[in-house]
Amino acid sequence: MTDNASKTPAANGQGQAMWGGRFSAKPAELMQAINVSIGFDKRLWAQDLAGSRAHARMLISQGVIASSDGEEILEGLAKIEDELSTGTFPFRDEYEDIHMNIEARLRELIGPTAGRLHTARSRNDQVAVDFRLWVRDAADRSAAQLQALQKALLAQAETYADALMPGFTHLQPAQPVTFGHHLMAYVEMFGRDAGRFRDARARMNECPLGAAALAGSPFPIDRHQTAASLGFDRPTANSLDSVSSRDFALEALSAASITATHLSRLAEEIVLWTTPMFGFIKLTDAFTTGSSIMPQKKNPDAAELIRAKVGRILGSLTTLTVVMKGLPLAYSKDMQEDKVPTFEAFDALELSLLAMAGMIADLTPNTEKMAAAAGAGFSTATDLADWLVRELNMPFRDAHHVTGSAVKAAETKGVDLSDLSLGEFQAIEPRITDGVYAVLTPAASAASRMSYGGTAPAQVRAQIARWKEILA
Ligand code: ARG
Repeated sequence: MTDNASKTPAANGQGQAMWGGRFSAKPAELMQAINVSIGFDKRLWAQDLAGSRAHARMLISQGVIASSDGEEILEGLAKIEDELSTGTFPFRDEYEDIHMNIEARLRELIGPTAGRLHTARSRNDQVAVDFRLWVRDAADRSAAQLQALQKALLAQAETYADALMPGFTHLQPAQPVTFGHHLMAYVEMFGRDAGRFRDARARMNECPLGAAALAGSPFPIDRHQTAASLGFDRPTANSLDSVSSRDFALEALSAASITATHLSRLAEEIVLWTTPMFGFIKLTDAFTTGSSIMPQKKNPDAAELIRAKVGRILGSLTTLTVVMKGLPLAYSKDMQEDKVPTFEAFDALELSLLAMAGMIADLTPNTEKMAAAAGAGFSTATDLADWLVRELNMPFRDAHHVTGSAVKAAETKGVDLSDLSLGEFQAIEPRITDGVYAVLTPAASAASRMSYGGTAPAQVRAQIARWKEILA
């Protein structure tokens, strides 16, 4: 400690910590190293300026500070905004975080009047409002990017509303579906994801500014004014909660994690579909990479990376949850650890959403190969069973049994169900007529599934039309 001892008076704007009034020694270097957050919270500069402006204007209109002082502060903040947006702002570690960096710079620019900005405010409510504004923007961006992804899926779904492909359960061929129907499943998922971001936004849209350190302020501040000017619906109602809660970020990270899970599933399908063994879709060179040793390779790296990002995003939710658990009210410095995981998660999510939208627009399905696969694996067996129920009035369980025998016969013969002769069908069930062949093609199978939300192209088109209206 003695190495760092200094008799310099605090708060002189020469690199001494702002809270140094009651301290006689500078913080040890290690203390500074663990404490400093400017390296990452500089990303909050625009939000910090917005919060400071709203606060300064409110202090003026409430007569807490003189208008002339307030104007000087606002002019100084405008200069600082200039410096920050042109990259000339002098960030300095000794001022710890974005809040004190900006305030220290304000002091350099306009002198001691700068100190009046912090009237009725604390870094605790300051960081709470800055971070909330940042997360709110991130939630809005994610919702918008989800909609762009939905539009890319819709466009492909419309083109391929009746392109047949195998539908799977257990990744085994189950029943024929259409490629449009399959893509529309993701439109539904991403629609719910966007809804989760909107719900989170509505809940987080309360302004913590004015909670001050933890107990509120003795000055006649107008929290409704600052809340409104920052686009919040209302001020938060409990000053302790205002500075201690980060569940708005947890909720946004949960929405991000669920979205990332959906992205990861779609990414996995793209990886599968692009292997020559499936060969269902092709990506252009724009979304694939080659191998340095195997000239034939075209790897779906973007899909693989999107598939992996969920680790980072869900990891961020875990990180922040663990940071917050067990924290006594009100603010604790632990909470400074909220930013890095949140920034990292949304950076990863936004990149994934953009890349996925790009890949979806980029892909071309091999409709012949998909249609051929749609008929493989006795995928119309259920249609045969349903025909037996409808035409012969068989109980479904009996029909299931008869169909099982037909599948076995076809398998033994090494042919598809539709290649069995009428005689062979009748050897299993004498009442079968040649009307059965009409339901054994994948196209007939898909077209017959007209129940609401089913895979029949007419149903798929109805859902596409509904979503087009929603997203218009
Ligand atoms: N850099 C701090 C954070 O991110 C700002 C709040 C600090 N408040 C305090 N009382 N030390 O949480």
